Amino acid sequence: MKLFLDTADPKEIEALVATGLVDGVTTNPSLAAKTGLSLVDALATICKLVPGSVSAEVTAVTSAEMISEGKKLAAIASNITIKVPLTWDGLTACKALSSDGHKVNVTLCFSSNQALLAAKAGATFVSPFIGRLDDIGQDGMELIREIREIYDNYDFQTEILAASIRHAMHIRDAALSGADVATLPPGLFRALAQHPLTDKGLAAFLDDWKRTGQSIL
Ligand code: E4P
Repeated sequence: MKLFLDTADPKEIEALVATGLVDGVTTNPSLAAKTGLSLVDALATICKLVPGSVSAEVTAVTSAEMISEGKKLAAIASNITIKVPLTWDGLTACKALSSDGHKVNVTLCFSSNQALLAAKAGATFVSPFIGRLDDIGQDGMELIREIREIYDNYDFQTEILAASIRHAMHIRDAALSGADVATLPPGLFRALAQHPLTDKGLAAFLDDWKRTGQSIL
């Protein structure tokens, strides 16, 4: 499963890209607004930091304007994926942009029928929002499982990008459910490698080693 960072903050991205485990980035208008940076400048910086897909979301609501905005965003760097909302206008824009050779992420997906339409529109990624479904008492992970089954039934190549991830169990369950990608807030990305027994075990190993007085280097 690919791991993307769900942030528009170049500093956070730079720090975590150094791990070599960041496969891409997703941004949205709310995340971009939070940085206080110019969107185009921030995206240009992020695209240089991350060799993989960087999703940049349109803010227009009509398909014609989404296509224009999408082309402008795609001109920022070759690894931009144009993000459009899962509306009829977004699907129409997705079909046009993907037919034109652009990568498209269809976002704000909350049902398997919506995901079916995104695949038919040629989306590179579909983004089901797990946490926001859980928030209203629906099982977000069940949506990932349904989309996986539908895409496999028809051999759709659209990648399932598990979004609105809130905690580590979401990552584990998305991986078990066959999501192709999970996008994580930076804090959660950092927390994934942490385990108290790892820390305790390492401290004991290092204490024992110190007592030998030896050095590997
Ligand atoms: C990713 O593409 C989404 O924009 C993001 O995961 C939304 O997460 P939220 O529900 O925590 O805002």
